[in-house]
Formats: sequence, structure tokens, C-alpha cells
Amino acid sequence: MLLRTETPADRPAIRELTIRAFADSESGVEPGEAALLDDLFGCEEYLQDFSVVAEVDGNIVGHVIATRGWVDGDVPLLGLGPISVLPDHQGRGIGGALLDEIRDRAAAAGERAIVLLGHIGYYPRFGYVPAIPAGILPSDMSWGDHFMVLALDGHKLPAGKFRYAAPFGV
Ligand SMILES: CC(C)(COP(=O)(O)OP(=O)(O)OC[C@H]1O[C@@H](n2cnc3c(N)ncnc32)[C@H](O)[C@@H]1OP(=O)(O)O)[C@@H](O)C(=O)NCCC(=O)NCCS
Repeated sequence: MLLRTETPADRPAIRELTIRAFADSESGVEPGEAALLDDLFGCEEYLQDFSVVAEVDGNIVGHVIATRGWVDGDVPLLGLGPISVLPDHQGRGIGGALLDEIRDRAAAAGERAIVLLGHIGYYPRFGYVPAIPAGILPSDMSWGDHFMVLALDGHKLPAGKFRYAAPFGV
């Protein structure tokens, strides 16, 4: 498996894999994550180094993106998501490798922390902890422990309300 920075030419494949990863087979409706990605690729908070694809045999099978967000309006953090792995490639460590890669890139870039909204059964194994008790508050407190944070390289976490990149609308 190869992990590398996304290029604009990869975007149709990323969109397709995101739809397949998040698809609700019963509704047949395109998952909202596809339109969110379209907007994230075009927004001011997009950071190319934090959009990473996983390739197997030359095919893109996974993708993760983290975009600029802020605590209290001016302290920059990263907001991670969406993350997707093709259904027939899940459970082989690709999602974990993408999370490790984003963490390593963020630490190397001097970022303070990464926040995400996700499954409490998955992200703690990568060091993420509930953000609210750590002092970082989501716009929607009902997210509870699903709103998580990973502090990088001993950075002290800022306290306050987190705002994602504009396309998230939160
Ligand atoms: C979440 C996702 C990116 C993980 O990628 P992956 O390559 O399957 O992950 P890994 O192989 O590194 O890890 C697999 C482990 O994650 C667990 N896992 C995967 N999705 C999970 C979920 N939604 N909740 C809890 N655990 C989950 C698997 O059960 C497996 O656990 P095990 O190692 O104890 O058997 C992938 O399952 C996916 O694309 N899911 C659909 C889209 C999605 O839900 N994205 C995340 C939104 S928060």
C-alpha cells in the first residue's frame, strides 16, 4: 500500500470511494459526505498536505482529509473528516494507516491537535480522547464523547469552542 498526497486528478476516484464507503444501500441516496468533500476541496480551509490517499495496485482505495478549523475563533487546529476506505478493503489496517499518516504530517507541521466527530469504538485506539472533558467544545453538545481530540507532541490544548472549516457549517 502507498500513501500519498491527493492531487486534483484523484478527486473523481476519491468521490466514488467516499460514496461507496458511506452508502446506505436501502435509500440509494448519495451520501452527504460526497458533496461535503466537493466543498472542502474548494474551500479556503483546504490544506493539500492533509488530504491523503491510500493506493493498492495503482487504485485509490482509501482517503482522509483534515482541514483548518479554529478554537475560539483564532487558535488553529485541524478538523479531520471524512475518512473512507472501500468496503472490500476495510478491516485491513488502511483506515489506521491513513490516521497515522495524518497524525505524523500534522506533528511534523507543528500542528497542536486534531479533532474529529466519529465512532467511539474506533478512534481511541489511535489516541483520540473525548474533547469536551479536555476543554474543546463542539457547536452541538449532543455530539458528546463522539467529538474527540488528539493532542500532538505535548502541545497544551487550547480551551474553547471549535469551529470547523466553513463547508461543515458547524
Ligand atoms: C471507518 C473506516 C475508515 C475504517 O477503515 P478500515 O480500513 O476498515 O480500518 P482498520 O482496518 O484500520 O481498522 C479496522 C477496525 O476498525 C473497526 N471499525 C471500523 N469501522 C468502525 C466503526 N464505525 N465503529 C467502530 N469500529 C469500527 C473494525 O471493527 C476493525 O476493528 P478490529 O480491528 O477490532 O477488528 C472504514 O470502515 C470506512 O470507510 N467506513 C465507512 C465510512 C465511515 O464510517 N467513515 C468514518 C466516519 S466517522
